[in-house]
Amino acid sequence: MRIEVLSDATAVAHRAADIVCDTVRAKPTAVFGLPTGQTPIATYDELQRRVRAGQIDFARAAAFAVDEFAGVPSSTAGMNSMFFRTRLRIPFPLHLPEPRAPDLDAEIRAFADGIRSDGGFDLCLLGIGANGHIAFNEPGSPADSRARVVALTEESRRAHAESFGSLDAVPRRGMTLGIADLLDARAILVLATGTAKAAIVARTIEGPTTADVPASCLRSHSNSTWLLDREAAARLSRTDAR
Ligand code: PGA
Repeated sequence: MRIEVLSDATAVAHRAADIVCDTVRAKPTAVFGLPTGQTPIATYDELQRRVRAGQIDFARAAAFAVDEFAGVPSSTAGMNSMFFRTRLRIPFPLHLPEPRAPDLDAEIRAFADGIRSDGGFDLCLLGIGANGHIAFNEPGSPADSRARVVALTEESRRAHAESFGSLDAVPRRGMTLGIADLLDARAILVLATGTAKAAIVARTIEGPTTADVPASCLRSHSNSTWLLDREAAARLSRTDAR
């Protein structure tokens, strides 16, 4: 794993956008896995800026969300599909699982199959939840977990209460790619910024590899890059050694 500690969240966003752009320049038909959350917004803004400036073209690329809430229409405020609609205005196909599918398990498994038939992720971006989750793989998710329907923790639901309007409105279940699906990506790019992530970043990178901290399972990947700002890296003891 490569760990890069950058000055601030803006520097992380620029570096992440560089890596995304390098990926699509090397392979115009690149397939990306994309997360929602506060962390990637600056990266998505920067990518949009570059697209508008004509610096990069994603016309032949494709993207898949790494997760979605389940059981309510995709047009509901707070849903990941709404996040991408407003936050990632890049003209390329962005696929999400259908949250009202009659068989949600079959839906998310077919979604993961679709990624594989598109050739798999060339680059999967991920944020880290404060409890160590990646996508909707909450603590307790094993490294060999595959795409599935999951129960969301209270902590994760609370983190989304504002975007859904209230805690009660946040769905109790989500559909997620499993950790093994994320590890299938040819490259992984993890983003973490801000002091609120410092403790979980330290546990993820320097603690044991454990299902209690799902993000720690990413350490086994042979091609992962972790972009941290100084605040998120503040509790690491050995950043210079990497
Ligand atoms: P955040 O969420 O970027 O809003 O902190 C990260 C996550 O839950 O994966």
